[in-house]
Amino acid sequence: MAGRIVRLDEARRRRLKRNRMSTPARVIAVTSGKGGVGKTHTSVNLGLALTQQGKRVLLLDADLGLANINIMLGFEPAATLREVLTKEASIEDVIVSHDLGFDIIPSGSGFPELSNLSEEERALLVEALDELGSNYDYMIVDTGAGIGSNVMYFCTAAEEIFVVVDCEPTSRTDAYALIKVLTNNHGVKNFSIIANRTPRGGDGKTTYGQLAAACDRFLNVSLKYLGSISDDSAVSEAVVAQRPFLELYPSTRASLDITKIAKKVLESEGRRNPSGGMQFFFKALLENH
Ligand SMILES: Nc1ncnc2c1ncn2[C@@H]1O[C@H](COP(=O)(O)OP(=O)(O)O)[C@@H](O)[C@H]1O
Ligand SMILES: [Mg+2]
Repeated sequence: MAGRIVRLDEARRRRLKRNRMSTPARVIAVTSGKGGVGKTHTSVNLGLALTQQGKRVLLLDADLGLANINIMLGFEPAATLREVLTKEASIEDVIVSHDLGFDIIPSGSGFPELSNLSEEERALLVEALDELGSNYDYMIVDTGAGIGSNVMYFCTAAEEIFVVVDCEPTSRTDAYALIKVLTNNHGVKNFSIIANRTPRGGDGKTTYGQLAAACDRFLNVSLKYLGSISDDSAVSEAVVAQRPFLELYPSTRASLDITKIAKKVLESEGRRNPSGGMQFFFKALLENH
């Protein structure tokens, strides 16, 4: 049942190079303070929801943790960005295409620790990723949790940051700590909050309200409520099947919720920051430190 993943064929590879200069992709980092709150599910299913709305989506698996996108979708990456750095693979070798219509840059254990890259490796990675140019409308970056250096790099380079919190108090305090570091140390001012695993009849607005109250009081940031995703057994069933829950159970509560979030994301397309785009993201990612 799991992921039917194919490498890009010749025509796609050629198109990838040709499409370098058009509208820049919207780059969204999906992150959290605490691990295991639902970042990867959110990234994959939001990616699918946007694909279903006709958008060209690239998922970048930027988490070094265990619950990688490739594991969730049941495939073994043939190459990762690590091989791009060692010149054993090109970026076109690394990108895979899922049968549901979106593309993935997988991670596995092959995602490089950005803080350890040499100048030459950074330049190589920027050049390789720059080639992707404007082939996509959205790039969703599934980051790790917490305030490690890779997470900070991805969040500061992205155009928008979606912070996933669940209803546990530790998730909220860790989200607060993450937001505090991003704003105080890196000048990030805007965050969108997704409340995950809300109980039946519950509403993520309570979780959001508590987080927003703390941020309002102590930090100079703007927190937007993007929506909630219900706690839903379909989510773990989808993990077993290694397919997105939105595909397997399109009318389950979590799927309706993520579709609603995707709609809100699409509605805000007109309010984008003009300095966005993938080129900007990769340059900022590798040059800012
Ligand atoms: N909305 C949800 N309903 C039920 N279980 C969920 C939900 N979201 C996440 N989970 C559970 O939490 C686990 C961790 O989710 P995951 O997306 O891998 O988190 P992260 O990427 O933040 O580490 C999943 O395997 C799933 O079992
Ligand atoms: Mg994850």
